[in-house]
Amino acid sequence: MVDPAALLKASVEAGKDLFRPMPPAGADGAAPPPRTDKPIVMVPIRALGPRHRERVAIHLLALEPHDRYLRFGYAANEEQIHRYVDGLNFDCDDIFGIFNRRLELVAMAHLAFSVDPKCQSCAEFGVSVASGVRGRGYGTRLFERAVVHARNEGVNLLFIHALSENTPMLKIARQAGALVERDGSETEAYLRLPPADLDSRMTELVESRFAEVDYSLKVQAKQFRDFLATIREIRAGVRDARDRASP
Ligand SMILES: CC(C)(COP(=O)(O)OP(=O)(O)OC[C@H]1O[C@@H](n2cnc3c(N)ncnc32)[C@H](O)[C@@H]1OP(=O)(O)O)[C@@H](O)C(=O)NCCC(=O)NCCS
Repeated sequence: MVDPAALLKASVEAGKDLFRPMPPAGADGAAPPPRTDKPIVMVPIRALGPRHRERVAIHLLALEPHDRYLRFGYAANEEQIHRYVDGLNFDCDDIFGIFNRRLELVAMAHLAFSVDPKCQSCAEFGVSVASGVRGRGYGTRLFERAVVHARNEGVNLLFIHALSENTPMLKIARQAGALVERDGSETEAYLRLPPADLDSRMTELVESRFAEVDYSLKVQAKQFRDFLATIREIRAGVRDARDRASP
């Protein structure tokens, strides 16, 4: 649950961080190298809508074939990923995302609500984190965010399907208290959720507000950096022209 002191500290840190110069992109262009000082206290997680489809596709297409295999249970090709993204139903399901300072979607989770009348209060959780930003707690945070939201939506059983080799995913599920059942190369995890309460509702409210503020700050910071880059380009152009003109 949200600790107000941690939230305040995270907001201040996020604000300071946004206006620092951008470090060079990692090999995949997604993010700087992982920090070694764990843990991240608060990670702004936004609810995504239909206008984010393209970013979702970019994020999923950037996953290595093995990660696609872990995420979908098969090594989804481009066409299958596009079909998955086009089929996302933002009215029925909830999709959450984490954006970096370049406003790239670096992690996302899909909370799919059951359409089976026999299991109306069940939901399934799926997640992916860009390879350059793994091990920072993003997967865990997305899971926690999905759990709180699911509780508030009346879900009492959360289901995770993972391959048995998927140590980090199963660790996230186990640490949350899920019952993990291995069946050969596949594993299913079930997490019983308590009913919503004031704490779960307040947590979701505060977290979504925090994420919205963080996102608008990131937009402003990006616009400011783009503006500075344009000024630098103009200055360089003027200098080049002057150098060429001088005898
Ligand atoms: C599974 C996945 C989402 C985890 O994301 P992540 O942001 O790296 O996860 P976290 O940083 O929260 O780590 C979760 C735990 O696993 C551990 N962990 C992370 N990578 C690990 C690895 N390669 N081997 C063993 N443990 C690992 C972490 O230390 C952490 O444990 P801790 O809380 O005790 O420190 C990410 O690896 C991924 O996107 N994989 C491809 C898609 C996928 O497998 N999706 C899940 C199926 S739906």
